[in-house]
Amino acid sequence: MTEGTATGRIVAGVDVEPAVTTIAEQSAAAPDAAEPAGTPLLRVQGVTKKFGPVQALAGVDLDIPAGQVTALVGDNGAGKSVLIKCVAGIHVPDAGEFTWEGRSVRIRSPRDAAALGIETVYQDLALCDNLDVVQNMFLGREKLRHGVLDEDRMELAAKETLHSLGVTTVTSVRQPVGSLSGGQRQAVAIAKAVLWHSKLVIMDEPTAALGVQQTEVVLQLVGRLAERGLGVVVVSHNMNDVFDVADRIAVLYLGRMAGVYATGELTKETVVGLMTAGRSDRWSGRVEGVAS
Ligand SMILES: Nc1ncnc2c1ncn2[C@@H]1O[C@H](COP(=O)(O)OP(=O)(O)OP(=O)(O)O)[C@@H](O)[C@H]1O
Ligand SMILES: [Mg+2]
Repeated sequence: MTEGTATGRIVAGVDVEPAVTTIAEQSAAAPDAAEPAGTPLLRVQGVTKKFGPVQALAGVDLDIPAGQVTALVGDNGAGKSVLIKCVAGIHVPDAGEFTWEGRSVRIRSPRDAAALGIETVYQDLALCDNLDVVQNMFLGREKLRHGVLDEDRMELAAKETLHSLGVTTVTSVRQPVGSLSGGQRQAVAIAKAVLWHSKLVIMDEPTAALGVQQTEVVLQLVGRLAERGLGVVVVSHNMNDVFDVADRIAVLYLGRMAGVYATGELTKETVVGLMTAGRSDRWSGRVEGVAS
């Protein structure tokens, strides 16, 4: 018998509570509702990570508010993936602190991250191709009724969640995920995060492999997550996507946070300047952020 983790076997004696609640209930429990104004959902302070001689992160500070989309940008090798893997519990930082809803926490494994309500959506790794949409959404957290899988309840909850997010292109929740398009897969992964009451959803290059229309659908979903009160972090190289969806832009440069800005304060050219040189000659203000 496995425990209720995201990586358990599909048929396991999992006694998962709380049961799936309705979207209305979930909205009522939006993470910022009970938070004093100004307390970020997640505060990252001084996170440092070395791989042998490579200093991937050098004292990174970043606040992630609930109800907003934060784009994490930076050149290749800037440390974006390492940073989100630290938040997701895949890497343990050499130094640094995490504060979750005002409380100091340790994130030392993906299980720790999941217990807090942190869900990471990767382009290809998040789902099992041979399982259908419902099985993927409940993987390791299956609903049981009298000791057997409660397929009807899981199917209904999966459908309701997809519907509530306005996902109309997944016509059957009983089709294997391997038969879905890249955008549909992303939609299922996002819906899974919503279904399990995640408070922070982190996406690494969610639109990298997608066409124009699919990208639009995924970006709309990203916006809806924030509207629902979730914190969202999106790693992206695509400036159009960033400016479409992000409320804030955090720029990593050579393992350091070059600054965190309100999207409206920047132009695409300025962001590219910050990404490639850690500063921009065409912009002199600073909304919030870390002096370099
Ligand atoms: N597991 C690892 N072992 C050794 N070095 C690593 C490891 N993971 C990342 N690095 C190094 O850490 C640095 C930051 O890598 P990271 O993958 O975070 O970059 P990134 O900003 O995500 O880049 P990209 O835009 O190309 O995805 C790079 O120099 C990379 O080579
Ligand atoms: Mg990366």
